[in-house]
Amino acid sequence: MLARIDEFAYEKSLLINIGDEKGALLDAAVQRVQPALALELGTYCGYSALRIARSAPAARIYSIELAEANADNARQIWAHAGVADRITCVVGTIGDGGRTLDVLTARHGFAAGTLDFLFLDHDKDAYLSDLQSILDRGWLHPGSVVVADNVKVPGAPRYREYMRAQQGTHWDTVEHKTHVEYQRLLSDLVLESTYLG
Ligand SMILES: C[S@@+](CC[C@H](N)C(=O)[O-])C[C@H]1O[C@@H](n2cnc3c(N)ncnc32)[C@H](O)[C@@H]1O
Repeated sequence: MLARIDEFAYEKSLLINIGDEKGALLDAAVQRVQPALALELGTYCGYSALRIARSAPAARIYSIELAEANADNARQIWAHAGVADRITCVVGTIGDGGRTLDVLTARHGFAAGTLDFLFLDHDKDAYLSDLQSILDRGWLHPGSVVVADNVKVPGAPRYREYMRAQQGTHWDTVEHKTHVEYQRLLSDLVLESTYLG
């Protein structure tokens, strides 16, 4: 499935998946953590969730998506790939006044210290506030890892500044220099941050 989606993006029409080059950075972070519970913000076609599922065969993965149509497409792709039993898409946003956070708590078992891996790939202006909302719930634990895509393009400057300011105190961040998906001209940054507590 991943190879077919990459082929489509290179040969037919650009897709805003994390893509193969940055996807390898995501894979490596997931393989390092081996999360039991992973949360992704920004589902789109389900490509990155599929990469997380492949890299962590024991993980339960939840993906939050604003658009119902994208959630429908992703669910079909996950079913076709045979991983629909491990990936759940919740339509909503972390910034919707607590509704989606409450759904994760009440229906899906999110609780203090349970979240091992978080992937941010949605509204770039919401990276920091959504991370803060998740921190406020206490779901992350020391050793949890947060990967953030598109920190340079389109850009999440406030998120990058926050991680720089917290370096060595609450977070330990590695900035991966890479390229915007499916081409080699535009550079991008993926941030991989380990929560120190
Ligand atoms: C870059 S795409 C995600 C790509 C996906 N992670 C992948 O690599 O396969 C961003 C997605 O986030 C969704 N989105 C935008 N704002 C959102 C928000 N506040 N919460 C959840 N999803 C959001 C968009 O509808 C879009 O599907």
